[in-house]
Amino acid sequence: MTSRLEVPKELLARYATSAPRYTSYPTAVDWEKDPAKAFQPASYADRLSTAAEERSDEPISLYTHVPYCAELCLFCGCNVQISRSDERRERYLKAVDDELTFLESTGIHRRPVQQFHWGGGTPTSLTLTQLERLFTSIMSRFKFTKGAEVSIEVDPRVTTHEQVELLCKLGFGRISMGIQDFQPDVQKAIKRVQSEEQTRSLIAASRAAGMSSVNVDLIYGLPHQTRASFRETVEKTIDIRPERVALFHYAHVPWMKSHQNAMDSEAMPGAEEKLDIFADSIAAFSQAGYVYLGLDHFALPGDELSLAAENGSLHRNFMGYTTQRGREMVSIGVSSIGEVDGTYVQNIANEPEYVALTEERGYATYRGHTMSATDKLRRDVILELMCNGRIDKLRIQRDHGIDFDETFALELQELEPIAADGLVKLEADLIQLTDIGQVLMRNVAVPFDRYMRERKARGDGTQGTFSKTL
Ligand SMILES: C[S@@+](CC[C@H](N)C(=O)[O-])C[C@H]1O[C@@H](n2cnc3c(N)ncnc32)[C@H](O)[C@@H]1O
Ligand code: SF4
Repeated sequence: MTSRLEVPKELLARYATSAPRYTSYPTAVDWEKDPAKAFQPASYADRLSTAAEERSDEPISLYTHVPYCAELCLFCGCNVQISRSDERRERYLKAVDDELTFLESTGIHRRPVQQFHWGGGTPTSLTLTQLERLFTSIMSRFKFTKGAEVSIEVDPRVTTHEQVELLCKLGFGRISMGIQDFQPDVQKAIKRVQSEEQTRSLIAASRAAGMSSVNVDLIYGLPHQTRASFRETVEKTIDIRPERVALFHYAHVPWMKSHQNAMDSEAMPGAEEKLDIFADSIAAFSQAGYVYLGLDHFALPGDELSLAAENGSLHRNFMGYTTQRGREMVSIGVSSIGEVDGTYVQNIANEPEYVALTEERGYATYRGHTMSATDKLRRDVILELMCNGRIDKLRIQRDHGIDFDETFALELQELEPIAADGLVKLEADLIQLTDIGQVLMRNVAVPFDRYMRERKARGDGTQGTFSKTL
């Protein structure tokens, strides 16, 4: 990546459109809606049993969602519940236990777990006892492999050093935490006041306790951020030197998250300034020795994500970029999304309903999508682009038994003006993102999205569905 991205303003205006982030393909809004063809939640147990029997030795990923946070950050787009009630957490933990018992009954727990992620909300909003009880309950059912990646998301404002020490004792080796921005005026505007000391102290405690990898999240596009102010946030982050950095573009989706309206949108940087902020940040992290993995992630060279990027095995799913390509993912907890036996499945997002359903029948799956061969082909192409910055046509042809240029004739035609704008290079056997294409990779992926094409043909806008690409 060059240190400066020079993008004509006119180009910027055209590409600052709304597009999916492709943590799944098809994206959840495009999952089959026709009730006759749609995934039936009652078949989830069969899917799990098939996955357990047919691929008994293949490792899986496991995800557990703990939705609670003490306070709501105004920018937050995650599935969160704002509560300090211990009773509510206890009820939820019991429901998760019911879900675990259900999973055990399908035999899926016999598959080795290669990756475990505990996400939220803020899992460390649980007490020490609750954290230990929940994790022990998971460990007593599932077998983790020896080198399993075990990670957790925490909020430095509520996470204690005792919690981090306990997590390390339980086997956690990776910790991820939000910073968002170090500037006090930005923090005030997003209602997330977190001192630099809080962040530094938790990272030091994590390292001292034995966490081998620290990830921090930053967001650009928030009120009062400027090029100069965000440069300071980046410099402080580089000084802390986490193994991984996620630099998210603020997803403004007030039609789904109405609390985002409480922020002053007039004070948010415009598309042009955001591009400058992003380009400056890429340059600063690169100069500091970080590898740019694409879209919104950086990692130090020895980190597994960088190694995966180097050998082309980077993957992307609901957790963002991961090293586990092609893994089935069993997800536990309210609103969580998994992928089992070629099918995406999602648990209900309403907490009381999640609790009631797991109590009644053990699972709270309420929708899903079984991928067709075409979905799998297009997903492979989009993932390849999002993860490796390129599409190796010959590899896709080999793996899916197609003629690339023939199958994607229309898409290749649509990529021509995008190539003329300098986002992508079209070669005989290769489609390769350029530097500016790395930033706008969602725009390059969209032509391969059959559902977006249908959406356009129906006259359905993307506005009000997906966040902006810039
Ligand atoms: C689920 S949160 C968990 C982290 C933890 N609760 C905390 O806040 O420190 C993971 C990350 O998602 C990112 N995030 C949340 N809402 C976002 C939004 N609207 N746009 C972009 N990133 C967002 C934030 O960077 C946050 O740290
Ligand atoms: S950003 Fe983190 S702490 Fe803030 S509301 Fe979202 S999940 Fe909770």
